[in-house]
Amino acid sequence: VGQTAREIHLVEYPKGEVSPDNFVTVEVELPDPEPGQVLVRNTFTSVDPGMRLRLRESGPAGYFNAFPLNAAMDDIWAVGEVVESRADGFEPGDAVWHATGWRDYGIVTAGKPALAGIATLAKIDTAVAPAEKYLGPLGAMGVTAYAGIVDAAELRGDDIVWVSAAAGAVGSLAAQIAKLRGHFVIGSAGSETKVRFLLDELGLDAAFSYRDGPVLAQLRAVAPDGIDVYFDNVGGDHLQAAIAALRNWGRAALCGAISEYESTSPTPGPNNMFQLTANNLTLRGFRGSAYQHRLPDVVRELGGWLADGRLKYQETIIDGLDRAPEALMRVLAGDTTGKALVRVD
Ligand SMILES: NC(=O)c1ccc[n+]([C@@H]2O[C@H](COP(=O)([O-])OP(=O)(O)OC[C@H]3O[C@@H](n4cnc5c(N)ncnc54)[C@H](OP(=O)(O)O)[C@@H]3O)[C@@H](O)[C@H]2O)c1
Repeated sequence: VGQTAREIHLVEYPKGEVSPDNFVTVEVELPDPEPGQVLVRNTFTSVDPGMRLRLRESGPAGYFNAFPLNAAMDDIWAVGEVVESRADGFEPGDAVWHATGWRDYGIVTAGKPALAGIATLAKIDTAVAPAEKYLGPLGAMGVTAYAGIVDAAELRGDDIVWVSAAAGAVGSLAAQIAKLRGHFVIGSAGSETKVRFLLDELGLDAAFSYRDGPVLAQLRAVAPDGIDVYFDNVGGDHLQAAIAALRNWGRAALCGAISEYESTSPTPGPNNMFQLTANNLTLRGFRGSAYQHRLPDVVRELGGWLADGRLKYQETIIDGLDRAPEALMRVLAGDTTGKALVRVD
């Protein structure tokens, strides 16, 4: 009762790179929860590259809603604690996930589908793992990595796998799933430190920095006979290199195209599409939210590996709700490793 909340509002659409000036923190008076609603205090809120695609008047067709100006930013994943409940099945003190992110307190309607249903208000079991892991391996990041590598790329046999943005939230999981299933896995990232992380921490078989030279030449140096699976987080020159390196019946799972998200004009497509025909290749886009039925598999498999230490999961935690825009800028600039999270003060 009488609860106020701090919310991040978007005040203008960025042109090109995101700036902190595009956002303000606003203090608002929250209404009391109505029947079917809960009041939640957020502890962590997610920061995702795909949010950049929503910082415009209308986002890509079929994707999550674009963010309106001067309003709370809905449909961003968060975890928190129920403070007050008027919804069946939720009690004060329950740890929950939901999509009322980028604010410290929020009113959430139980059963209302959020983020295509994958972030609808639900209890999470903090006896299994700390709440913030449900914004990572035990939630959308895990489902996306798993669905991409297992379902979209149909990982099999002795496939040789390349994962781009492999030191990131989704990429680090996709690469390790393939590695833990016994495949030869190559990772790429944007710095020497991240290359060391891929080799020393994640135990990948080979790694390179795309800043060290042309992607295809570096890929060929570590996979002279080609690759069978490409997990694409980047698009652009990375995708074109993969099309050139994929061998007969190769598959690419198109998870994201971060190299294009901040560009102000359409980016050129791969110039070697005939290779798809020549080599019987499949390029398949996919959304983690379309594979929610995989969540129990993900929690069992990734949760097990996480508990016994075989799955490494790094987080970059940025403290303070006010710094959420800065956190997004850092994600887009490659200045985070593993999952970027904002710890809500
Ligand atoms: N399909 C889905 O359902 C789904 C769900 C979640 C995420 N995604 C997509 O998956 C990808 C990874 O997301 P994430 O949440 O795991 O983020 P993340 O990998 O933790 O962070 C993004 C990373 O992308 C790299 N990057 C930025 N600009 C780049 C560029 N121009 N060229 C190459 N690399 C660049 C940076 O690492 P470096 O230092 O290596 O450059 C940065 O750390 C994104 O494309 C995202 O949109 C898709």
